[in-house]
Amino acid sequence: MDFLFNSGIPGLIYDTLRGIGYPHPVHPIFTHPPIGLTVGGFLFLLAAVVFKRPGLFQTARHCMVLTLIIFPFTVFFGWVDWVHFYGGTFLFPFQMKLVLAGFFLLFLFWGGFRAIKSNTGPGKLLFINFLTFLVVIGLGFFGGEIVYGDRAAAKPPTGETPGGVQPAEEGQGREQLVSLGADLFSDQCAMCHYTDKTATKIGPGLKGLFVGNILPASGRKVSEANIRSQLRNPYEDMPAFADLTEKQVEGLIAYLNTL
Ligand code: HEC
Repeated sequence: MDFLFNSGIPGLIYDTLRGIGYPHPVHPIFTHPPIGLTVGGFLFLLAAVVFKRPGLFQTARHCMVLTLIIFPFTVFFGWVDWVHFYGGTFLFPFQMKLVLAGFFLLFLFWGGFRAIKSNTGPGKLLFINFLTFLVVIGLGFFGGEIVYGDRAAAKPPTGETPGGVQPAEEGQGREQLVSLGADLFSDQCAMCHYTDKTATKIGPGLKGLFVGNILPASGRKVSEANIRSQLRNPYEDMPAFADLTEKQVEGLIAYLNTL
């Protein structure tokens, strides 16, 4: 089981992709074929039933079989991205994705099996395909929740300090530390935490973290030591960041102090 969460394969894949200049998640690309084919298959079936066109029925069957062929790749890259970008944590949207993917596969096999049997009429297939269609909408919804959260409703960030107008007295070292922390944060933390509000994305929003007294999830006191321990040995659902260097941790803390 440990293999599922701590495998080196996702890291290896992303190292290779970065080597050829591709830094983005791969799973979202592989979600389009099953979604498109499911919707397409559904529409072809509907047209086959309504207009009594056996040719369209055949097209729908091909869509269903093609979905079945491509879906393993979608699942594989879903796993890769989940481990690589989200530390393989079992947060609610990931649980929903797993359950829905299971149903999707079930309906795909059921539909594919019925599609091959020559005595299955388009009406029966239409019912199965409709279920598949509903599940694929659910999968897309939770995928969107993970990537965008409630960003759509969020205000665009304002009040950014324009570059170069930081107080001159502030040590150069401190600025560098904050900027190191900011880069690291956008790389490793921003997919789960907002910095411009306290609303939950996947973890709690961290705006004003050091202004308050208690940490949002654990209720521990806000202190450097407790943030450190959150990174090395996190409270409940957050993945651990045990291999950050001391400098990186300091950078993150310096950056969190500015929120
Ligand atoms: C996979 C999503 C995810 C990533 C990536 C992530 N976090 Fe979290 N974080 C969470 C969740 C979820 C919680 C709330 C924990 C809980 O409720 O069990 C949390 C909680 C926290 C807290 C509050 C802890 C407390 O005691 O209340 C801090 C601070 C924090 N994260 C900082 C970070 C920093 C800094 C990074 C990047 C190095 C990071 N997180 C990366 C999901 C994530």
